[in-house]
Amino acid sequence: MYQVKTLVAFAALVMVGVGGAQKVQRAGVNIAGFDFGMTIDGNFTQSQMVPPLKSQGGPDGIGQMQHFAKGDSLNIFRLPVAWQYLVNYKLGGSLDSNNMNVYNELVQGCLGTGALCIIDIHNYARWYQGIVGQGGVTNQDLTSLWSQLASRYKGNSNIVFGLMNEPHDLNINTWAATVQACVTAIRQAGATSQIILLPGDHFTAVGGFSTGSGPALVGVHNLDGSKTNLVFDVHQYLDSDSSGTHTECTHNGVDNLQTLATWLKSNGRMALLSETGGGNTASCQTDVCAELDWMNYHNDVYLGWVAWAAGSFESGVFSGHTYELDLVPAYANGKWTDKPLVSSCVAGKFH
Ligand SMILES: *[C@@H]1O[C@H](CO)[C@@H](O)[C@H](O)[C@H]1NC(C)=O
Repeated sequence: MYQVKTLVAFAALVMVGVGGAQKVQRAGVNIAGFDFGMTIDGNFTQSQMVPPLKSQGGPDGIGQMQHFAKGDSLNIFRLPVAWQYLVNYKLGGSLDSNNMNVYNELVQGCLGTGALCIIDIHNYARWYQGIVGQGGVTNQDLTSLWSQLASRYKGNSNIVFGLMNEPHDLNINTWAATVQACVTAIRQAGATSQIILLPGDHFTAVGGFSTGSGPALVGVHNLDGSKTNLVFDVHQYLDSDSSGTHTECTHNGVDNLQTLATWLKSNGRMALLSETGGGNTASCQTDVCAELDWMNYHNDVYLGWVAWAAGSFESGVFSGHTYELDLVPAYANGKWTDKPLVSSCVAGKFH
């Protein structure tokens, strides 16, 4: 009887938590398409790109975001794009005004929802096979890009600068210097307070971040030496090899998140899970929901999550077969319908 009473009291406390402030600040979805044609070694084939824009003959990425914001209360979107596209293949050159105008339509559509909008340079720390700042192209080639993007978007506090998608197979200490150069360039361009996302090695995986990339990146700082709004950028997939290429999930990733949370807390820092996800399957609904719900209770160190992915995943090279991690909502008769993983977990856990 004593035990039963204790359990009831405990359950009541948990209920208070659920109804209270126990949730992350930000939840949303990646809106992919401007990155299609990019390989993990930084090759880019523009003919495979599918801008998620009706004006470009592509899917209605802006409508998707409006739906996610209004219908699901989601409030962060990540907008992957190829570096080569923004400068029209001119390394270290000016932003290409035509291409920037096309990409900016998606950025403005995102901003119009009131959400945070992440500009994600989706190049795996590479320009073709060369690693930025370590044998390939120079840090200045990348800081030139970021300086121009920061100048263009410095007036909008809802822009987030995602320095680089999934660096891998590089020297992390040398990479930390590249990340520092980008932060300095962005702040010097006048974007003094927007969030900047700092990615690590190993595809910026959550697992191992606290012993590898984290310690290397922890010293990256703003012009005044502070770390304000410098947020670690981490990814995690829950399939058998953690690659995000299978529809079934095998684990919920909470162990890795816990290890990183302890490190973040001891360093007074935060992280954003800017890619996670799974198939629209029972196993992934169980595991992704468990992962995201755990984050709600650790919102002191986790800003939130951005699921992979909606946008153009039912078009171009992906038309005719089902993409494993497809989160594109269906549109019919004036109504959007979410994929099950979105309704149950990505939006469903953002209570
Ligand atoms: C990238 O391009 C190089 C040079 O053409 C090629 O050797 C390599 O296989 C390409 N990478 C991928 C992933 O296609």
